[in-house]
Amino acid sequence: MWGDVTENFTKALPKAELHAHLTGSISPECLHEVWKRKRSSPAGSQLEDPLSACRPEAEHHDILSFFPVFDKYIYNLCNDTESVAFATEQVLKEFEADGVKYLELRTTPRESLENGMTKEVYVQTVLDTIAKHGKEVLSTYLILSIDRRNTLEQAMETVRLAIKYQDKGVVGIDLCGNPLKGDVTTFREAFKLAKAHNLRLTLHFAEVPQSSTEVELQTLLSYQPDRLGHVIHTTPAIEAEISSRKLGLELCLSCNVHAKMLPGGKREFTDHHFANWYGQSNAIALCTDDVGIFGSPISNEYFLAAWHFNLSRYDLVELCRGAVESIFGGEREKQRLYSLLDEFEKICDNAEAAP
Ligand code: IMP
Ligand code: ZN
Repeated sequence: MWGDVTENFTKALPKAELHAHLTGSISPECLHEVWKRKRSSPAGSQLEDPLSACRPEAEHHDILSFFPVFDKYIYNLCNDTESVAFATEQVLKEFEADGVKYLELRTTPRESLENGMTKEVYVQTVLDTIAKHGKEVLSTYLILSIDRRNTLEQAMETVRLAIKYQDKGVVGIDLCGNPLKGDVTTFREAFKLAKAHNLRLTLHFAEVPQSSTEVELQTLLSYQPDRLGHVIHTTPAIEAEISSRKLGLELCLSCNVHAKMLPGGKREFTDHHFANWYGQSNAIALCTDDVGIFGSPISNEYFLAAWHFNLSRYDLVELCRGAVESIFGGEREKQRLYSLLDEFEKICDNAEAAP
């Protein structure tokens, strides 16, 4: 009745995407469009075509080559409100076309003062684009990211912006950026302020061995996060804490495998720690992280999970249901997603109409 898991099926699944960096989600084709528009300007002519600059084989990305793609290239290309709005709209369209019904997009407020873009204008531009896109099919919320390289003052500025735009769809704060940089103790006051204003908290957690010391992980847990991203280089004691708090987990299969982030340089999808957490009491959300860089849309992440961990169509629907538990968008959105999943299940029960 339910049949094999196919790509059509994982595309049709009503999915929630909870860990997607806006700039990392821009496709090379969209960047190419921005580049074509700017090519004739003096600044644009300095930049290489993104179709060659941003599409080195995904497998070649690792922690050293990955972050400079943003700092040295994409931020220089998408550096004004027009390109940020255009890229954001394309990103929303692509998630929607991939069957995403609920999206928490995250982004680091950034400025380009020579183009009249302050951090606040950047956030307003992203929020306006989300509002223009509408909520009929895809419901989108925003998480503002603090970069590990930030000072406390910069982090506080991000939290203040999040508070100011909470009623326009900002639901949380994230800590991201190169895990080899920064000191996470810097941000205690910023996270405290966010929590005091009912913003939810998600943290990049245990991405590489250097950012996975007991002290760092305990410090991050002391900030009372609601969800954790990646959660790779953990210890049994840390895992026990994550389990007992039932923290939501944002797991990114392709990103972790292609960027060679798994312990001991393991390279197989079957080595991914999804296998350890699946079936436990933590809500798991499969996520893309940076679909523009790794090239694997979320429908493909569900397909990969089915393929490598032997999950059925029914298991995937349940996995999607589990992800809903940890969304930041509130009870109404949860009920909307549960209804969509119920409807989808009914369609699957009717073999004729099944995707
Ligand atoms: P933005 O915040 O929308 O500009 O998205 C790009 C930014 O997200 C990068 O500059 C990084 O700070 C962050 N980012 C993207 N992927 C990762 C990741 O895998 N780990 C940590 N930070 C990341
Ligand atoms: Zn991330």
